[in-house]
Amino acid sequence: MQTFRIATIPGDGIGKEVVAAGVEVLEAIARRDGRFEMSFDFFDWGSDHYRRSGRMMPDDGLSRIKDHDAILFGAVGAPEVPDHVTLWGLRLAICQSFDQYANVRPTRILPGITSPLRGVAGGELDWVIVRENSEGEYAGQGGRTHRGLPDEIATEVAIFTRSGVERIMRFAFELARSRPRKLLTVVTKSNAQRHGMVLWDEIAAQVAANYPDVTWDKMLVDAMTVRMTLQPQSLDTIVATNLHADILSDLAAALAGSIGIAPTANLNPERKFPSMFEPIHGSAFDITGKGVANPIATFWTASLMLGHLGQGDAAARLMRAVERITRDTAFHTPDLGGRATTRSVTDAVIDAINGEN
Ligand code: NAI
Ligand code: MG
Repeated sequence: MQTFRIATIPGDGIGKEVVAAGVEVLEAIARRDGRFEMSFDFFDWGSDHYRRSGRMMPDDGLSRIKDHDAILFGAVGAPEVPDHVTLWGLRLAICQSFDQYANVRPTRILPGITSPLRGVAGGELDWVIVRENSEGEYAGQGGRTHRGLPDEIATEVAIFTRSGVERIMRFAFELARSRPRKLLTVVTKSNAQRHGMVLWDEIAAQVAANYPDVTWDKMLVDAMTVRMTLQPQSLDTIVATNLHADILSDLAAALAGSIGIAPTANLNPERKFPSMFEPIHGSAFDITGKGVANPIATFWTASLMLGHLGQGDAAARLMRAVERITRDTAFHTPDLGGRATTRSVTDAVIDAINGEN
């Protein structure tokens, strides 16, 4: 029987709570499926590690996880550690070093969940956002000089390379082609940003020529927020830069009901390195330790991971169990207006997995 080795990094805050729930559910799915096993190696990296050692992960951290089949990640961020330290010290260190350049964020309104958009139900909002995950505005280029002086300068340079834009466009067109509507929206800001974003647009058009069966259009990012809100039915697959997609996918998560539901995959499509799967939410200090974090985002994330590992049946089974549970408001956590707990939702999903014929 095949065993998948999963590097498990719960991180900080509710990351620990939802990853623990995710591991339980993955173990249940593997038992139920019977065709594969999962073995979880836990790494206690994050802000506690930083407080102990001054580093978010050990120096040899990357080499300790590079041979795993996948990485399951919770969240990082702690009130007394600057966010750029936690993010760059762990999550971005992994994404960048393992060349996880395609960040994929499916969004839809699960059964039983109410969108804040009046009159928008079920299948009317069914998107996949593809975020360029290796360069753009988060390339890490820039610096600060004359610190503390009146003429202090800070630059944050957005980087767009032909190879980087080309590979994410190809990935997005392929994904759009694999979905029934074969519809792609390329998000840009080439009216105001006339170098990097113009290159982005040009390459989109060049790559599009190889996908005559995919219908595509272009939207300025500001107008895109309006379209997502007023015409969600008009969108399907979306590709955007690192910064733009970061923002749009939080909006997407909120429009689909809660950030506590939204999953994401950081993919190295060539599979030279392991890919990393995580809920899109952060460590949520405001609810840490209360036992009410919504674990659904992590379960959906786990389903994406199973799909990536070639276990499509198990991935679909897990989503069926999740959708059975979201239908029942007794299993809605406070972010969805209910009173359920992480524990009760996890138990219910495991029961649904075991109860399915
Ligand atoms: P957040 O996502 O942690 O929380 C935003 C709001 O959503 C909070 O009110 C929180 O209670 C709620 N929420 C988030 N996940 C939830 C869940 N599963 N169930 C129920 N409610 C949930 O974002 P925030 O507050 O801006 O950031 C907190 C920390 O997390 C910061 O240090 C930030 O840098 C970090 N962060 C880390 C991310 C990551 O590791 N990928 C992503 C986003 C933020
Ligand atoms: Mg974000």
